[in-house]
Amino acid sequence: MSNERFSEYRGLGFESFRALAGSENLSLHQRIGFPDEYREGYCQPIIADILRKLPTLGREDSTLFDIGCGCGELAQHLQTHAMAKNQRLILNDSAEVLAALPAFAAREELVGRFPEDVLDLLEPFRGQCDAVICYSVFQYIFVEGSVFAFLDQALSLLAPGGYLLIGDVPSESMLQRFLASSAGRSYHRKYSGCDEDPVPVFNRVCLGKVDDAVLLGMIARGRAAGFHGWLMPQGLDLPMANRREDLVFMRP
Ligand SMILES: C[S@@+](CC[C@H](N)C(=O)[O-])C[C@H]1O[C@@H](n2cnc3c(N)ncnc32)[C@H](O)[C@@H]1O
Repeated sequence: MSNERFSEYRGLGFESFRALAGSENLSLHQRIGFPDEYREGYCQPIIADILRKLPTLGREDSTLFDIGCGCGELAQHLQTHAMAKNQRLILNDSAEVLAALPAFAAREELVGRFPEDVLDLLEPFRGQCDAVICYSVFQYIFVEGSVFAFLDQALSLLAPGGYLLIGDVPSESMLQRFLASSAGRSYHRKYSGCDEDPVPVFNRVCLGKVDDAVLLGMIARGRAAGFHGWLMPQGLDLPMANRREDLVFMRP
């Protein structure tokens, strides 16, 4: 798959990720739905940004739950990190995606869509997890599932003092605000290779896309359930920091 054919990466979902995971002609990044330039060389800055937002991930002997872990560099790094820190690591994704990850004896696996396919299997983990991560996955759950059911279940996993990071969420509202700026216009001309300014659009229904209403609604839902919740910017050294942001929750 060529990196130029960005349309190949649109319209992905849980089912199509199963097929991508086993495609040997794809790079590690393409197998999790990213053109190489969105992930190649970015693993360390992404991990550093995640560690700033999930302080419990850096702790020895903690329990980490990764929703939609994928089979790329990030999941591989989390496995090595967990081993070094003597952490309990629970990985969730499809059987095909989990099978594409290098073997790691100590990990536990929850196979299926979160939360609907694994609801009964979540019981032992409720209130037990110090760090829950769901990175670059929320946009698919938004289209295919219920984001509030997802949030309620993800929050239920947190131990007291535990953190949940719903990271790398593409925000249509943030993108449109960016495109309306001078920096956004230059970026658009460079990226699209044409001389025309973008036409940012506000006040419309964003079918299939996450916007401010969704993100702020998530914060309100978590806070109403007794959790601290924040919407946070990505580190500026991340490849999509101009249009993606992160949700962070903490169980007091
Ligand atoms: C873009 S990849 C991100 C992988 C990894 N978190 C990362 O950032 O490197 C999205 C992953 O989410 C998984 N996924 C999508 N919807 C899911 C759901 N409802 N439950 C669990 N995994 C899901 C896909 O199978 C895929 O592996």
